[in-house]
Amino acid sequence: MSDTQDMNRRDFVALAAGIAAAAVCAGALAPRVRGDDATSAAVPVGSLSDYPKDGLYMTYEKPHHIIIARESGSLYAMSSKCTHKGCDIKLAPTNDHFICPCHHAQYDDAGKVLHGPAKAPLFRYPISVDSGGKILVDTTQPLGPDHWKDAGASISVASA
Ligand code: FES
Repeated sequence: MSDTQDMNRRDFVALAAGIAAAAVCAGALAPRVRGDDATSAAVPVGSLSDYPKDGLYMTYEKPHHIIIARESGSLYAMSSKCTHKGCDIKLAPTNDHFICPCHHAQYDDAGKVLHGPAKAPLFRYPISVDSGGKILVDTTQPLGPDHWKDAGASISVASA
């Protein structure tokens, strides 16, 4: 075997090992993909029939910290974690705003701050509907207010 052939074989083995290592790293670092497979980050939150009218739904507040809101023909998902220090907020007795029991921040029904000490609104999450009509919420991708109107930040009630 010539030196050139030997070098080419060594280069090939090194290249193949590099590609394999890169593939393993890419898989480990890739964002979780929404869907209903076993490795999905999506949380199923029922179907459209579970949200028959406008309002706030706390069904998935425990254990997933998800609040579903239906408003004017669309559904969106909010985090129930206060943006001040992360306590679980509670729905006020009037059902139209949220109160944090820890330091008394208040948020309106859309998650915007009414009273501090919280400064930032509640995070929202991407929401989608799978082919079987199951509504899925991706809690790994919190959305600030700049993204609340993005595609995927809400679903049309007609599409669910
Ligand atoms: S953790 Fe909610 S107001 Fe402080």
